[in-house]
Amino acid sequence: SAAALPEFTIKPNANPMPEADRLKAFESLGFGTLFSDHMAVLHWNVVKGWHDGEITARGPFAIDPASAVLHYAQEIFEGMKAYRTAEGKVVLFRPQENARRFNESARRMAMPEIPEELFIEAIDKLVGADAKWIPEGEGSLYLRPFMFASEAFLGVRPARDYIFCVIASPVGPYFKGGAKAVKIWVSENYTRAAPGGTGAAKCGGNYAASLIAQSEAVEHGCDQVAFLDAAEHKWVEELGGMNVFFVMDDGSLVTPPLGGTILPGITRNSLISLLKDQGVAVHERPYSFDEWQADAKSGKLKEAFACGTAAVVAGIGEVKFSGGGFTIGTGETGETTTKIREQLVNIQRGKSNDPHGWVRHI
Ligand code: PLP
Ligand code: COI
Repeated sequence: SAAALPEFTIKPNANPMPEADRLKAFESLGFGTLFSDHMAVLHWNVVKGWHDGEITARGPFAIDPASAVLHYAQEIFEGMKAYRTAEGKVVLFRPQENARRFNESARRMAMPEIPEELFIEAIDKLVGADAKWIPEGEGSLYLRPFMFASEAFLGVRPARDYIFCVIASPVGPYFKGGAKAVKIWVSENYTRAAPGGTGAAKCGGNYAASLIAQSEAVEHGCDQVAFLDAAEHKWVEELGGMNVFFVMDDGSLVTPPLGGTILPGITRNSLISLLKDQGVAVHERPYSFDEWQADAKSGKLKEAFACGTAAVVAGIGEVKFSGGGFTIGTGETGETTTKIREQLVNIQRGKSNDPHGWVRHI
């Protein structure tokens, strides 16, 4: 039974950023510092369900200081990108997968689910309103759908009011070094997610918990932190904001399995499909930090890379930890990493054909 979905009222921003300023800002795009003119907002409460959708000028929320999110962190988010193709068309990559994962996160955090069509409608409408904010060339428009508990109540139970919002940010490379291989710090003091915890959900709390380890990584001259499993401190799980793959000397790849403590990355899933299409063996299996060190030293490990929406595919050149460090392969981004990155990017940007039907035209 299809209940009518709310519509998004469009209220154009009366003071959009002047075109010259926008184009100037496009010349030096980093990650997550520049924002578009609009946002999508949608409300939920126990009585009305989803209601009052609008595309409106991006701006601050007025929320009650007792809003549950500010106390108990009931918040989830997604990360996806809109691209401008060489022909000037606007495309999204697998948005249904973000909608599905958003609802999985919502279930884990005892939040209301949003119909997938409504999630995608919010994205489509916002990208439509802010299409001029999609940079040409290498950049993209990073979309950040999120939902938080807005009910003013200090008891500890799932809130009864939520706000869903999508903001948009034109972005360039996530890492400052661009295509240069990144350095990874393996955290032995901190873990990210324990069995039964929220590791597979994209909730803000996971990232809050990762920041001290990420700071340790930065203090040691590294770009990202890698976490080991919480139970044994032995198995490589994922990075602070990316999944990880290992390229072996026999051409096969290894990536940690999804077991509830890591984020099921859409990039990860897409790369596994692309590699399998080409007959490449990809083993989703536990890989220990001991094995990682031994394989890097023996040369059995040729390459490693991080992958995610923000980072795309980034070669890992060096690994550091409290007891020392090691180099992977030549220390530069490897051939397999470069090739799979290109294959993915070409599909995402509509440059090569799309055998899995991953690209959605807006
Ligand atoms: N792991 C974590 C912790 C992340 O934050 C992300 C980024 O979204 C990923 C993995 C990669 O997920 P995806 O490829 O869906 O962006
Ligand atoms: C993404 O890749 O979309 C993320 O959410 C990860 C974060 C490091 C920006």
